[in-house]
Amino acid sequence: MFNKKEFGVEFKWGVSTAAYQIEGAHNIDDKGLSIWDTFSNQNKKILGNHNGNHACDFYNCYEDDLKLIKYLNIPNFRFSLSWPRIIPNGIGAINQKGVDFYDRLIDHSMELGVTPWVTLYHWDLPQMIEDKGGWTNRDVVNWFSDFVEVCANKFGDRVNNWMILNEPMVFTGAGYFLGIHAPGRKGLKNFIPAVHHASLCQSIGARVLKSICPNANVGTTFSCSHLEPNTSSEKDKLATKRVDALINRLFIEPSLGLGYPTDDLKLLDRIYHYFLPDDEKLLPFDFDFIGLQNYTREIVAHSYFVPLLQAKLIKADKRNVPITLMNWEVYPDAMYQSLKKFNQYSQIKKIIVTENGAAFHDVFFDGKIEDERRTNYLKDHIREVLRAKNDGMKVDGYFVWTLLDNFEWAEGFYPRFGIVHTNFKTLERTIKKSGYWYKNFLEYK
Ligand code: FCB
Repeated sequence: MFNKKEFGVEFKWGVSTAAYQIEGAHNIDDKGLSIWDTFSNQNKKILGNHNGNHACDFYNCYEDDLKLIKYLNIPNFRFSLSWPRIIPNGIGAINQKGVDFYDRLIDHSMELGVTPWVTLYHWDLPQMIEDKGGWTNRDVVNWFSDFVEVCANKFGDRVNNWMILNEPMVFTGAGYFLGIHAPGRKGLKNFIPAVHHASLCQSIGARVLKSICPNANVGTTFSCSHLEPNTSSEKDKLATKRVDALINRLFIEPSLGLGYPTDDLKLLDRIYHYFLPDDEKLLPFDFDFIGLQNYTREIVAHSYFVPLLQAKLIKADKRNVPITLMNWEVYPDAMYQSLKKFNQYSQIKKIIVTENGAAFHDVFFDGKIEDERRTNYLKDHIREVLRAKNDGMKVDGYFVWTLLDNFEWAEGFYPRFGIVHTNFKTLERTIKKSGYWYKNFLEYK
């Protein structure tokens, strides 16, 4: 067994969350509507017709939850700011009560010696902005910049660690191409402009933040799945290359000054229609760190039936492999391979694994949850992080997804990812075995 010491004293250990998934209090203290409030309250959008209206009620329970984080010896806490809680219409007037909530959260966290890591955008776009076209409207760049400016001015005196966007590929892909996440829009005509505007927000938002907080540690986060072709055929290999360009390279490469991966992904050609003359120069930003979020590997096969991409993912449950409740393969080597992939970009200064975790069916026995599989998942993935580090790769931190069982987007409350169980009726929290394992692991001096 490995221990914490092997990662070095500078290594950042943490736990990650997101506002919409835990806060609840959807209409409290003058909060505005987000696209997730709208989407999840429509019929049949979310599994079980669940919604995040109340979620874990973190808005009211945050003090106890912070105590839990402290008790679990977790030194860094990643959470996101809800844009419509701070600026209810997305643009214009600031909601002081929303600002007060995050002030309390940040202050209390720091009093306990838990360092805040703040994500500026974890998918809950103000509905009023969506009504104006959302991510497909170029003006979102200015609106987002104004939001970043407000947050930097209000919280930048205490918050040092920032992430601009959470997984832009997922919120543009699932939200504006497949229509399975808020706001439920579909097709390339929505996806392509959303991609370009999110890319611009990623770098312009970072520039705004740095101009106000020059010493801040500024990053942004990307999803990355390790990909392998289904067979060694040329067709499957080329299909894998296209999927890689789409799901792994699309957002990181423009931020590193490499441009969009259009050579390997022809469907992106149309993105240049959305360019203004200076965009090429605006896309890169020298981030202090890159957040890497890996959960699994995917197997890719060529498919004539998928227009443009001509590729499909072979679902894990069709492959006779261990899976989680998300139907994601449990494959720890994917963590190592993803780190290796990101390490090949020499422009990246630091890499922090800002999410990794697993959803399994948990059972109470004698008032306890012995979530052996989640515990092993975490151990096995952290071991892969250590292997990468020992092989000389850059990797500077690891954050578990997630603290509490919460609202898991389109899957509602079914997949439980927490190292702490949430009873959604009573709001009671119960630390799972995985939580105790992480606590003991982090205790090591
Ligand atoms: C990531 C999201 C996070 C959570 C995990 C399971 O894609 O960033 O909010 O839903 O997946």
